[in-house]
Amino acid sequence: MDIIIRENYEQMSKCAAEIIAGYVKAKPDCVLGLATGGTPIGTYRELIKMHREGLDFSQVRTFNLDEYLGVGIDLGKTYDLDQSYARFMYEELFKHINIKRENIYIPDGQTKDPKKFCMWYEQEIKKAGGIDLQLLGLGGDGHWGFNEPGSSLGSRTRVQALTEQTLDDNYEAFYKKANIARSQMPHFAITMGTGTILEAKNILMIVNGSKKADMVAKCLEGPITSQITATAIQLHSGDISVVLDQAAASKLKNSDHYKFVEKMKRQYGL
Ligand code: F6R
Repeated sequence: MDIIIRENYEQMSKCAAEIIAGYVKAKPDCVLGLATGGTPIGTYRELIKMHREGLDFSQVRTFNLDEYLGVGIDLGKTYDLDQSYARFMYEELFKHINIKRENIYIPDGQTKDPKKFCMWYEQEIKKAGGIDLQLLGLGGDGHWGFNEPGSSLGSRTRVQALTEQTLDDNYEAFYKKANIARSQMPHFAITMGTGTILEAKNILMIVNGSKKADMVAKCLEGPITSQITATAIQLHSGDISVVLDQAAASKLKNSDHYKFVEKMKRQYGL
C-alpha cells in the first residue's frame, strides 16, 4: 500500500488525477470505478483540465460506487431537479469530458426492482472485465461506498440503510445547500459491496481534512473490522494508493515512514 501525503487538498487532487490519468493513458479502454462526494471534486477538476490538454476518455468505461435510492438517473435531463449522484457526476465530470453515454454506469436509484438491478450491475462489471482502478473516499463513520458500520466485508452490490452520521454529513455537504429538508433526504442507497470493491484490480483512496484524521488512522493502521468497512482496504491484493492531505494524515503513527518510502520509490523510479 502506497500512502502518499500531500500538503493540501489541491496537491492531493492533482496527485490523484495524475494516477487516474496514468491508467487512462496506459489503457485507453480502461474501466474506472468512480466516487462522488466533496472529496473527488478537485480530482475531477484536474481530470477535466487534462482532458482539455488532450486526455482522451472516448473508450473509458465507468462504474459509480453508489446512488441514493429514489432519485434520478437520467443524465443531463433531471440534473437541475435532484441531488442524485447521477446529477453530481454529470455536473462535476461527465459533461466536461468526451466519455460516451453508453460507457457510463451508475446505480439506478429509481429502479422498481433493486435486487434484480444490483445483480445486473455486478454482472455488467464482470462483463466489462472488472474494474481496473477504483476511486474511493472515506466516510466520517468509516464507510467506503455506502458500506455502513456492520455491513459484511464480503458484501455485494445491494440496498443499504444510511446511518444518522452519513445523513448528517451529506445533509451539510449537499442537501442543505439545495434547500431540501433533512427529513426529505433519501435514507437508503444502492452501493457496491465491500466484496465488490475488493475485486477491483487496483484501488485509489483519497481523503482530506482534519475531521477525518482519526478515521484515516483507524482505517490504515487499526484492526480490520466490519464496524469500519474501509479497513478492508488492508485486505486488497492489487496496487493500492492512498492519497491524503497533511490534515487527514495528521493522526497516522507511521507517517514519517510513509513519507520516506515515497521518497525512496521516487528516487529509484519504483
Ligand atoms: C461516494 C461514496 C462515499 C464517499 C464518502 C466521503 O460515492 O461512496 O463513500 O466517498 O462518504 O464523502 P465526502 O467526500 O463527501 O466526504
